[in-house]
Amino acid sequence: MKFTGANILSVDQFDRDAIEHIFRIADQMEPYAHRRKRTRVLDGAILGNLFFEPSTRTRISFGTAFNLLGGEVRETTGMESSALAKGESLYDTARVLSSYSDIIAMRHPKAGSVTEFAEGSRVPVINGGDGANEHPTQALLDLYTIEKELAHHGGSIDGMHICMLGDLKYGRTVHSLSKLLCMFKNVRLTLISPPELAMPQSICDALTNAGHQVINTSELSGSLDADIVYQTRIQQERFNSLEEAEQYRGRFRLNSEIYTRHYKPNTVIMHPLPRDSRAEANELDNDLNQNPNLAIFRQADNGVLIRMALFAATLGVEHLVSRYDTDVIWYSDKAIN
Ligand code: CP
Repeated sequence: MKFTGANILSVDQFDRDAIEHIFRIADQMEPYAHRRKRTRVLDGAILGNLFFEPSTRTRISFGTAFNLLGGEVRETTGMESSALAKGESLYDTARVLSSYSDIIAMRHPKAGSVTEFAEGSRVPVINGGDGANEHPTQALLDLYTIEKELAHHGGSIDGMHICMLGDLKYGRTVHSLSKLLCMFKNVRLTLISPPELAMPQSICDALTNAGHQVINTSELSGSLDADIVYQTRIQQERFNSLEEAEQYRGRFRLNSEIYTRHYKPNTVIMHPLPRDSRAEANELDNDLNQNPNLAIFRQADNGVLIRMALFAATLGVEHLVSRYDTDVIWYSDKAIN
């Protein structure tokens, strides 16, 4: 896969070599993300960061990643504050904003919208999530996290057992991650959800065709020898009504007691975040916060590394990053890690 000048719209664009290429660039970004070094390799470049749907991690980490490479960020957030609310097409918006930017990251509530936008753009476009469809940068950071966490225990993605649970119908992160897993070998997937929120059949078929073992169930029972448990939020914004979403809330709670009962002592706990931390949500409980296997914040941190790697690769400067670096002179406890 040629990255320079490419849009990153779907995980379908990647093969295993391309994933490996991005992961090894991400490794090289650690000194910058950990504030031991700074680089000005993208000095003068501008990121258009367009978020037409709520976001904390993806929007801020795209911006942080670009800033850490020395570039500047211009943002718009929310549909109402953009000219899309006046009926402007995605094509026109893309034509205009791609004149103002060198690269664009975008999130939008409609499936396929980022691809439609990219058709009008004259600069690379990176999909930050399009409706219930895909979230490719999240899938890459999830897979990167899985690789790192399993390596810590002497394991690997090939041959692993991952349990995904919750809303697997509307959760775009599990769709994109599953598609990436099709490129690996002998993965076991236990997919736990209410039947109405099951993983789309097309994705289950792709996993099976890749030679993986896929078990669909609506019950969390017995002892699962999973290496990874990947919890998802009920995507309430994608249901027809709040009442419809409410009936599923809390069905697949993960807390310390449930973890100990159903999982191995070193099963890695992941969640794309945000988690619903309200007590009545019964989702991923705070009583797991001190569990060393809780990887959710390491996962979010890895988002900066992956997005730095994607910016460096799509703008063709991945081999120049260290040439433009200097030491960081301010105090930072990140540099101590
Ligand atoms: N994981 C994720 O996409 O989080 P945000 O919605 O906060 O960007």
